[in-house]
Amino acid sequence: MASSLTAQISCGTQPSAPSFSGLRRTCPMLDAAVSFSHRVHSSIRLVSSSHRSPRGVVAMAGSGKFFVGGNWKCNGTKDSITKLVSDLNSASLEADVDVVVSPPFVYIDQVKSSLSDRIEISGQNSWVGKGGAFTGEISVEQLKDIGCKWVILGHSERRHVIGEVDEFIGKKAAYALSEGLGVIACIGEKLEEREAGKTFDVCFQQLKAFADAVPSWDKVVVAYEPVWAIGTGKVASPQQAQEVHVAVRDWLKKNVSEEVASKTRIIYGGSVNGGNCAELAKEEDIDGFLVGGASLKGPEFATIVNSVTSKKVAA
Ligand code: PGA
Repeated sequence: MASSLTAQISCGTQPSAPSFSGLRRTCPMLDAAVSFSHRVHSSIRLVSSSHRSPRGVVAMAGSGKFFVGGNWKCNGTKDSITKLVSDLNSASLEADVDVVVSPPFVYIDQVKSSLSDRIEISGQNSWVGKGGAFTGEISVEQLKDIGCKWVILGHSERRHVIGEVDEFIGKKAAYALSEGLGVIACIGEKLEEREAGKTFDVCFQQLKAFADAVPSWDKVVVAYEPVWAIGTGKVASPQQAQEVHVAVRDWLKKNVSEEVASKTRIIYGGSVNGGNCAELAKEEDIDGFLVGGASLKGPEFATIVNSVTSKKVAA
């Protein structure tokens, strides 16, 4: 790993605070982008402050509700999921957070029938169109039938392990939205792309594929998940994450609309845990999290959900 990158990535639960994130040095347009984003934020804050004041939430550039998703991936057994559901049911969760869990398909029914309605359920993938002769696939209609409200699309493991490409992912998102599911739309750069200074290019290209396909952003949550941070224990520093989240919000403003830029939740994923969530949540463009490993432990997931309190004014 190049030493410059080592400085950009902080490890474990105690992220260091690098003096520069790497993106600024590699993106000549960034100064202009940042000053533009400050102007965007000022106006967004004015628009959204009236919505937020009753909750006492500050440090939030967007106007959407904090959102935390637990992506269980290909983990669990009937027994371990029974325990996880029981822990989640007994956890005390802050009211002003949308909470979603995404079990493996084969356990969705079990989770739906035992989990509190406080927590919504997501599929981890869906077929690109109506169901039929597509061996091994799961349709949007089936996800709805079994009680899912959301689906995760474009996750890096589907992009880089399974080989899904932007256009296909965009079509999946459009179909899921047309059938009424919410979409957790994942984007994020690989390690070598970050090292090559292509973080924004990659994220914007993946975002554009969603934007080109979806009819509306009302039920889209964007998850920025740098691939180098997923499942590695190398969490992005709050500054690194914020930097990309600002850029994503600016991209939405310039390419979709100011309203969509304000309303769309931009959540961070990649080695989020109970120890680092509070610092990340303080960043004003981080509207929540998509959590893998740490979502398999009920109490730790609850801590991450409750990190919304980091955004609130101290009493
Ligand atoms: P992780 O996974 O929290 O285990 O890094 C995040 C994700 O893939 O959504």
